[in-house]
Amino acid sequence: MSKVKDEKLAAKGEEELYWARINMPILKHVRKGFEKELPFKGMKIGVALHLEKKTGILLETLRAGGAEIWASSCNPLSTDDRVAAALAKQGMNIFAWAGQTNEEYYWCLEQVIAQKPEILIDDGCDLTLLAHKKNFTQYVLGACEETTTGVNRLRAMDRQGKLKFPVFAVNDAYSKHLFDNRYGTGQSTLDAIQNMTNLIIAGKTVVVAGYGWCGKGIARRFAGMGAKVVVVEIAGDLGEDKMSGSGFHKALEAHYDGFSVMNMEQASKVGDIFVTATGNKNVLSKPDFDSMKDGAIISNSGHFDNEIDLKFLNSKAKSHREVKPNVEEYDYNGKRLYVLSHGRLVNLARPTGQGHPVEIMDGSFGIQALCAREVAVNTPEKPGVSIVPKEIDDEVARIALESAGIHLKPPTAEQIKYANAWDEGT
Ligand SMILES: NC(=O)c1ccc[n+]([C@@H]2O[C@H](COP(=O)([O-])OP(=O)(O)OC[C@H]3O[C@@H](n4cnc5c(N)ncnc54)[C@H](O)[C@@H]3O)[C@@H](O)[C@H]2O)c1
Repeated sequence: MSKVKDEKLAAKGEEELYWARINMPILKHVRKGFEKELPFKGMKIGVALHLEKKTGILLETLRAGGAEIWASSCNPLSTDDRVAAALAKQGMNIFAWAGQTNEEYYWCLEQVIAQKPEILIDDGCDLTLLAHKKNFTQYVLGACEETTTGVNRLRAMDRQGKLKFPVFAVNDAYSKHLFDNRYGTGQSTLDAIQNMTNLIIAGKTVVVAGYGWCGKGIARRFAGMGAKVVVVEIAGDLGEDKMSGSGFHKALEAHYDGFSVMNMEQASKVGDIFVTATGNKNVLSKPDFDSMKDGAIISNSGHFDNEIDLKFLNSKAKSHREVKPNVEEYDYNGKRLYVLSHGRLVNLARPTGQGHPVEIMDGSFGIQALCAREVAVNTPEKPGVSIVPKEIDDEVARIALESAGIHLKPPTAEQIKYANAWDEGT
């Protein structure tokens, strides 16, 4: 059972899947193991991920492990309709198309959760939250969460004792946040903004809000293209569990990395292009729109579209219209402001955003697949947020290295003994 935009797009989707499949050695390796072991035999896996070619290969891998797949998207704009059609043709149950309304988006998630899946694979926590709201948690053995915002929400639920099943924080694995959030978001955000605008990056002032894993990657890629990058951070932190450092540390890191660091009041006056990647809300709001230059381009690479206060802009702008795909022109206070991809994840908005490079998603989805196996065969005993087992994190990095022709030597027994001793000198 599926609902996709156009089943006739399946052949085009297969071409996309082919390209991803031949460039995802980690999932190929995982799939071989799954075909023998069938860890998901007799189970349903419910998925809410950006439904595009790399996700397609993850779903094929899970199915090769015996799972029945029920999948929707985790964002109303990010589905590749060709790939969705191809996966539906392969016999998976797919509920996704690009350009959904909010109601359609939630309807699709509901189709997935209504199947009572034993395992959830989520990106942003919407599916997990729906399982809780609709009282389906008793069917769920466990889940895996892909992104920072999702893990932050899960930790908040966990702190209040509201999380009813175990969830692996896939986002927090080294092999995930170091590479996916940094290099993946960096390259794909730059790609998407270039595709949408076709404007020169060199010489422009690009304001990056948030110097976390994503922000670091975005800042570095834009600087590499010749932009003058300004980083904006917050004084302190937001009181949630942080993997590393407060806004003070991130701002200092950006300063040492050679970027200009400002607050948004200062940065909003000088930016030509704005990119938010904070996981926070109203990072760009009225005072910033008021100070922006005529022609400023505004975009978001954080999980939700509330990083830019579009409610305000939509209500106060004299008019706004889409002047080209994913580029909206706002007539605000006598100047033009351009908002990309309706404020949603700029790097994943179809047709201009293709998402992360294939090899990057191979790593992230390698962890997803192995954590889903862990839920099936080695279910954590207690509800709550679990860290990704070290063996899985190391294994994924090892396969990625070996696929790149890099073969490391293990430390000697003497070196291991030395590293663990406290009574040996030099
Ligand atoms: N676009 C993508 O493909 C993609 C990929 C991975 C993660 N994400 C999303 O991107 C967002 C950031 O993820 P991350 O891993 O970089 O998180 P992170 O926690 O490492 O970094 C976020 C940073 O934003 C800063 N920040 C918070 N509020 C701010 C504000 N008002 N102004 C300026 N800075 C502020 C924080 O101090 C922190 O340093 C999350 O929503 C995450 O889910 C997107």
